[in-house]
Amino acid sequence: MSEEQSEGRGSFTGRLGFVLAAAASAVGLGNLWRFPYLTSHYGGGMFVIVYIVLAVTFGFSLMVAEIAIGRRTGKSCISAFGDLAKKYKWIGVLAAIIPALIVPYYCVIGGWVTKWFATTVVGDLSTLTSDGGGYWWSYITGGIEGMGGPMIWFFVFAALCLLCVIVGVDKGIEKVSKVLMPMLLIMMVAITIYELTLPGIWDGIVYYFNPDVSKLNGGTFLGAISQIFYSMSLAMGIMITYGSYMKKDVSIEKSARNISLIDTTVAILAGLMIVPPAYIFGFGDSAGMGLMFVALPQVFAQMPAGEFVAPVFYLLVVFAALTSAVSLLETVVSVFIDGAKVKRKMSIIISSVLLFVIGVIVVLGFGPLMTDLSPFDQGAGWLGILDTLTNSFLMPIVAILTCVFIAYVVKVSFVTDEVESEGNAFMFKRPFEYMIKYICPICLAAILIFGTLDMFGIYSVY
Ligand code: TRP
Repeated sequence: MSEEQSEGRGSFTGRLGFVLAAAASAVGLGNLWRFPYLTSHYGGGMFVIVYIVLAVTFGFSLMVAEIAIGRRTGKSCISAFGDLAKKYKWIGVLAAIIPALIVPYYCVIGGWVTKWFATTVVGDLSTLTSDGGGYWWSYITGGIEGMGGPMIWFFVFAALCLLCVIVGVDKGIEKVSKVLMPMLLIMMVAITIYELTLPGIWDGIVYYFNPDVSKLNGGTFLGAISQIFYSMSLAMGIMITYGSYMKKDVSIEKSARNISLIDTTVAILAGLMIVPPAYIFGFGDSAGMGLMFVALPQVFAQMPAGEFVAPVFYLLVVFAALTSAVSLLETVVSVFIDGAKVKRKMSIIISSVLLFVIGVIVVLGFGPLMTDLSPFDQGAGWLGILDTLTNSFLMPIVAILTCVFIAYVVKVSFVTDEVESEGNAFMFKRPFEYMIKYICPICLAAILIFGTLDMFGIYSVY
């Protein structure tokens, strides 16, 4: 949020403005990079189905709850929890730590995308497809010193993000993303339609949609729920802050439904664009988190005029990633303003030091600082460690605490009254109450415990 907003606490104009702003921040690398590679990792269709089911139940409920807390208190997450019950301020603090841990590695990946754009815009698509898909890994683990290496591109992307925060261009970004986001969607649809002409693609599509029960294990649920939190920007205080800027007469339920719908649609579409071709080209799980960077260049290489399509596509992805990164960094900045009561300028300095120091560690984590904390690091060094720590541990814990806080400290009616304020209907009120009081906390705890045991190979439920 920009300075003028945080001082005067402005608000979004109407439901469309709110939904679009929240969706622009939610749609990003989570949908385009993370969802497809997790789908491949967890065996295709089964993961997609578990994801959708959890998104419309857990994801939607938590989104309603967070937006309502934000609007009712008019505060961002640290103050919201603290104001409601002083003893529980730490839940807000815990939630607020998460964006600070995400934004550095988000910018490292944003740097990779920018590199892919820079490479294709000068007509060098063939570099990206070289070495039978091995280029991505040798790029991120190699050329750290080189001019075009991952360190440089991390700095470029992070600096761009920082610049947007310093200049306070969120209004501008909002306008630009209203045009670019639909363009990205149209492009994704067009690329997917082209892929239907690839020989054997049907096998890949079947893999993507067909649920193979034998692939189901404790990890699938933990993977899916962590992806929901990450992609829908939940369990880290963001939607509380967004809610605090929402007008009273706008329906929280409808807004939450639309944001969830947009975010999930983009994720499913991104998966459809990336997973089937990756499957038929034989990358599957072997590419790990590089799936998007490995599989798509192969598609562009075969596409007529692919060398022109590729840079446009990557540029749009850079934008989608940038809008999310800016909103993440803004959150970190506002956390220091709110939590440590420092001035905005000071807060920007602290946040950027954190961003650059952790980011550099993440980049070096693929080279000299490589650590082996398998399977916790997902084979991706510090990036994997931060990713697992935030998504698979901190977010489920914050989500459980949020539910317990609502159900047993402030009471569910605190949220439902807010959803129903100014005569707005709350269609799923009963299911929502059950979700927050019982189903979410119990199931999330089970997912967390069994998922962790599964991750470390200690005990598998299936
Ligand atoms: N949801 C974003 C994505 O899919 C990533 C993200 C996580 C985010 N937390 C956020 C974006 C907070 C903005 C604010 O890429």
